[in-house]
Amino acid sequence: MKDQLEKIKEEAVRQIEASEALERLNEIRVAYLGKKGELTSVLKGMKTVAPEDRPKVGQMVNEAREMIEAKLEETRQALAKKAREAQMKAEVIDVTLPAKKANVGHRHPNTIALEELERIFTGMGYEVVEGPEIEYDEYNFTKLNIPEGHPAKDEQDTFYINKEIVLRTQTSPVQARTMEKGVLPIRMISPGRVFRSDEVDATHSPSFHQVEGLVIDKNITFADLKGTLAEFARELFGEETKVKFRPHHFPFTEPSAEMDVSCFKCGGKGCRFCKGTGWIEILGCGMVHPHVLEMCKIDPEKYTGFAFGVGLERIALLKYEIDDMRLLYENDVRFLKQF
Ligand code: DAH
Repeated sequence: MKDQLEKIKEEAVRQIEASEALERLNEIRVAYLGKKGELTSVLKGMKTVAPEDRPKVGQMVNEAREMIEAKLEETRQALAKKAREAQMKAEVIDVTLPAKKANVGHRHPNTIALEELERIFTGMGYEVVEGPEIEYDEYNFTKLNIPEGHPAKDEQDTFYINKEIVLRTQTSPVQARTMEKGVLPIRMISPGRVFRSDEVDATHSPSFHQVEGLVIDKNITFADLKGTLAEFARELFGEETKVKFRPHHFPFTEPSAEMDVSCFKCGGKGCRFCKGTGWIEILGCGMVHPHVLEMCKIDPEKYTGFAFGVGLERIALLKYEIDDMRLLYENDVRFLKQF
């Protein structure tokens, strides 16, 4: 039995020393130390050993096991070290290779225009507030003085979730939401996405963006509206920019106007850009209708205010002289890279 064990040890060591891969060591471990391995079969042969010799044989088997285990571990470490060294050699970094170009992204023209607007208005002390894109019909229309059956509801056809809930057609409902909070005075702008059931063309999209503005305080007059929006236009389009207010109608403001800016391309002489008129329309505005104030529990005898609404895409298209709104939504990197 002793000879048999010596033979097993010798053979195991020989095989371990000859192995070149970690997997091979595992095979050897199973073959010698496993449940059906050589050492176990020696133990099974114990029956034939005289009882008084059994402890001695058991000890010898254990020594053989420990010896093989030690040899396996030693070889495992040596092989792992060799493998690591080979890997390090193979993965040497050539610091002289040209670096991968970092692909820096671009802000979308809409985002650039929005940040510009926010900069101008926060600079004048305005807060930026947001409202929900999925809005109650009541806020989108009724609270803005557009009751059931009002023709303005047709002009802003939208997507109905159900009878009471719509995708908002304008950012103006945020006016009512802000006024209802009852914290006065108010000086806010509210940018966001709006929806209309329009067909896509160069100037229309079923989803676009507006920036709403609202000021409510004591003694606010049309002069404040004009002064504020003229300053906004100069900041956005340049010091030389002139503004012109044309009477218009919006249900939630009275009086209402549309504001044009002098063409920043030709300085007002008339060119292709302004279609020869010298002026470019950029926003709607007006004094908040007393009835709208009342619906939001603000006393129109004590407080007045003005509001305005700007199309964000319109500003981006004008500023960057882009002639088709669809380009803003296609996300073609070659297009976006230019800004
Ligand atoms: N919400 C209007 C629209 O979508 C734009 C607008 C006009 C907003 C006048 C205003 C305003 O706040 O005073 O056509």
